Amino acid sequence: MTNAAITGWGTCMPPAVLTNADLATFLDTDDAWITSRTGMKERCVSHVPALELATVAARRAIACAGLEPGDIDLILYGSCSNGEQVPNSASGVQAALGATRAAAMDINTACTSFLYSLSTASAMIRTGVVRRAVVIGVELISPYMDWSNRNVAVLFGDGCAAVVLEAAESDEGLLGERLGCDAEGRASLRVRGIGCVYANRDVVLGDTLWDFDGQEIFRRAVRGMSQASAAVLEQCGVTPDQIDLVVPHQANLRIIEAVVGRTGISMDKVMLTVQRYGNMSAATVPVALTEAVETGRVRPGALVLMPAFGAGLTFCAHLVRWGSRVTPLAVSEAALSPSPRTALEMVNDIRARRASTSARSAAGLQADV
Ligand code: UT7
Repeated sequence: MTNAAITGWGTCMPPAVLTNADLATFLDTDDAWITSRTGMKERCVSHVPALELATVAARRAIACAGLEPGDIDLILYGSCSNGEQVPNSASGVQAALGATRAAAMDINTACTSFLYSLSTASAMIRTGVVRRAVVIGVELISPYMDWSNRNVAVLFGDGCAAVVLEAAESDEGLLGERLGCDAEGRASLRVRGIGCVYANRDVVLGDTLWDFDGQEIFRRAVRGMSQASAAVLEQCGVTPDQIDLVVPHQANLRIIEAVVGRTGISMDKVMLTVQRYGNMSAATVPVALTEAVETGRVRPGALVLMPAFGAGLTFCAHLVRWGSRVTPLAVSEAALSPSPRTALEMVNDIRARRASTSARSAAGLQADV
């Protein structure tokens, strides 16, 4: 049987870091609250568009697999913060890479977008539609954040990672997955105005409205991720003690602890990045997976469980068997330029733009009346 082996991996993290202390300069919050309620200390703010993050991560993953962009048959772009809807984002990555043979598709299931993309690419490889795919998880949330809303502004960060999947006859890659959607809870997480790069009078960066019921999402996330984890373990005939590493969606340390506890796995088997990167939505799982490989936490043949949830409320759990190689075949020289501004300066720019837009639309409304 043909499987889809993970043969390349790479991250692209923006260099500018926003600390809890930075957030407390303009929000009624503090490090003690954020740390105790979420586990988060820092998150990254990108100075470049998401397509640039995605292109650098994809180049690193392709080099890691010992391939060239021209070898790739399919690019999947998992994200919910695409700068444009038409044309799609995956085509932008195809163009930037020069991966001219590749089909290009966007997938949006919010924070689970990378894992749903992993399912899609693996299925297309198993059925012989394509042989080599790049699967990207990327999110650029900072421009769309409502930085005046402390319920959400402390939680999210920007980031990206990508993996390469290749057809293989060995017993590795995605062994099984459970995908689901708890749509009764869909009103608990809605962002109006996300996903437009155009700064004109109709759509302005940062002019978003977040509906966010944290406690409701928390409850449903724990249930969905735990049930999906139990289902995929049963489906694959694997017991919790056989799991070598858990790479969960990183929305909140307390959610991770609850899910892992219910699944019967100890926290020392969990890869955590939530302290340093916050919730990067679709990027959290691939970034944590790549860092786990790069820091030696993924051994050859390891069984890796990846549970996640996101707006929708989509949820899933994926079980992967790693292959024999945990080191890159080659290293790409692709890199971001240094950030010319600090994270706090960039956030304050977005806040100022939003304030001036609100003032303009209030004046416009008064004139209309
Ligand atoms: O990946 C998908 C998106 N991620 C999520 O949806 C995350 C799911 N939810 C959560 O992680 C948690 O529910 C939160 C971290 C969002 C909130 O934690 P919580 O323990 O559920 O806190 P809470 O909402 O019950 O708020 C407790 C208190 C409230 O004050 P009162 O009413 O007790 O006086 C909030 O107003 O904390 C207050 N609060 C804050 N205080 C300081 C809320 N946000 C903040 C803040 N700083 N940033």
